[in-house]
Amino acid sequence: MKLIIINGPNLNLLGKREPELYGSQTFEDFFIQLQFQFREVQLEYFQSNIEGELITKLQEVGFSYDGIILNAAAYTHTSVGIGDAVKAIDTPVVEVHISNVSAREPFRHESHISAGAHGVIFGFGLKGYELAVRSFL
Ligand code: DQA
Repeated sequence: MKLIIINGPNLNLLGKREPELYGSQTFEDFFIQLQFQFREVQLEYFQSNIEGELITKLQEVGFSYDGIILNAAAYTHTSVGIGDAVKAIDTPVVEVHISNVSAREPFRHESHISAGAHGVIFGFGLKGYELAVRSFL
């Protein structure tokens, strides 16, 4: 089973970015734990702050990998292009958000990703990524 986590803008700052919302662990640390927890899974990680790079990565992996776990971060609420890419590829996408976006500002209630996603997980902190891996297993 080959899965990839794709994280969007500002998620490279996890650990120091608004820790009351996103926790105090870096994603790199969390990812090492996740890889250890799911040793049987080929688990990759990609992060970019650039919309086009996220689209290119989705196209690159989207016809061969078994699953994509996508937290498009702020682009979730703005990017028709990422939403279209999710619909264009074959590989199922699970959309993840660390925070409970429904309990936040109204602009975070809209997602361009959800319509093309297999499922959506939000509000469980970094554990959401673990739940997403489990959903593919
Ligand atoms: C986020 C929620 C988004 O609204 C926000 O722009 C992010 C992170 C989350 O994981 O909770 O950058 O996707």
